[in-house]
Amino acid sequence: MDHFEFRHGELHAEDVPVSRIAETHGTPLYVYSRATLERHYRAFDEALAGLDHLVCYAVKANSNLAVLQTLARLGAGFDIVSGGELQRVLRAGGDAGKVVFSGIGKSEDEIRLALDAGIYCFNVESEYELELLDATARLMGKRARIAFRVNPDVDARTHPYISTGLKNNKFGVDIATAEALYQRAAEMAGIEIIGIANHIGSQLLDVSPFLDALDRVLALVQRLAARGITLRHLDVGGGLGVRYHEEKPIAPREWATALRPKLDSLGLKILTEPGRAIAGNAGILVTRVLGIKGNEAKRFAIVDAAMNDLLRPTLYQAWMNIVPVIESSDSALQTYDVVGPICESGDWLGRDRELAIATDDLLAVRTAGAYGFTMASNYNSRPRAAEVMVDGSDVHVVRARESFDDLVRGERLLP
Ligand code: LLP
Repeated sequence: MDHFEFRHGELHAEDVPVSRIAETHGTPLYVYSRATLERHYRAFDEALAGLDHLVCYAVKANSNLAVLQTLARLGAGFDIVSGGELQRVLRAGGDAGKVVFSGIGKSEDEIRLALDAGIYCFNVESEYELELLDATARLMGKRARIAFRVNPDVDARTHPYISTGLKNNKFGVDIATAEALYQRAAEMAGIEIIGIANHIGSQLLDVSPFLDALDRVLALVQRLAARGITLRHLDVGGGLGVRYHEEKPIAPREWATALRPKLDSLGLKILTEPGRAIAGNAGILVTRVLGIKGNEAKRFAIVDAAMNDLLRPTLYQAWMNIVPVIESSDSALQTYDVVGPICESGDWLGRDRELAIATDDLLAVRTAGAYGFTMASNYNSRPRAAEVMVDGSDVHVVRARESFDDLVRGERLLP
């Protein structure tokens, strides 16, 4: 459920008509709903109630400072994958002591930054990372708290680009070698073992891969205990899907109910790293129809948002729902490819969509709050979109639209 709904034929973000927001702030424009973000965070928090737990929002889904601040105020932890994401969390008022650091290529500088900040845990993804972490921590006179991110080799049955828990994916440490790595880590002066983590993919629509992965991870936890290596937490990753089209996503409560029989008696703190399920439905991308053109084969609606603003359709052939912001009976229903101005045939937001629209109409791409703005670029020298956060009847600009000066900042002409 989200707080974007049609009232009297007009799409509203909480209590504000989207057309009014677009008039004031221009397009393309990302519009977020604070109430939706809060609702989704709480759904995870409540689903795990009664267990010692921490919901670590995956910052990569939407890293706007105001989004992070909203979640930090609710007590959220954060899953980061770079020094930049860590600095965002700290700038937004997040607690470093609730941060887990995932990712297969942490640099020494990023490790130093995270050790200095005192993050809760590094999710280590390789032997070389373990060695770098140990050496860096010892140089700094610290101990790095770690979990290994193990790769349980289960098929998440999602798009190949967002499936991460199979042997042929680059992520995590093989479950077979993890045991030996834990043993090595236990002997390192710069390392303190505190947990175990796994994350098998994104946009999962079925609980069974989560359960299969958990079984394999728990078997390893037992083998470690037999070696005298005891853990404090188990991080079950993120990956819950959302509804873009006709998907039937798993609700956080349903997911937790399925997992809890395996978790309740472990005596471990449970961490989870949801991104999309918190931010996805909390955002839309608003765009204006610049013009309509066609030939005998196709009719195109050319809009002012493009693949640089929202890459998912281009990169994953993702189907995202596109709706007119104001329902109108003036235009005839026609089939359109909704395309952006970028000079690439892959620059489309939707194909073969039935829409009743005309030039200057506003369209909203729904469920664009996750992996929307964070994957935006300046391709074709297009300034990135503005972002606003709606809170009841208030609209806050949480990122100004980029200017030409922003685009060339840091560039220099030759002498
Ligand atoms: N934890 C780790 C270690 C991850 O790699 C990810 C996502 C998450 C948590 C959060 O997963 P979520 O709950 O959002 O599914 N750009 C793609 C999605 C890439 C996901 C990458 N990792 C898309 O637009 O579909």
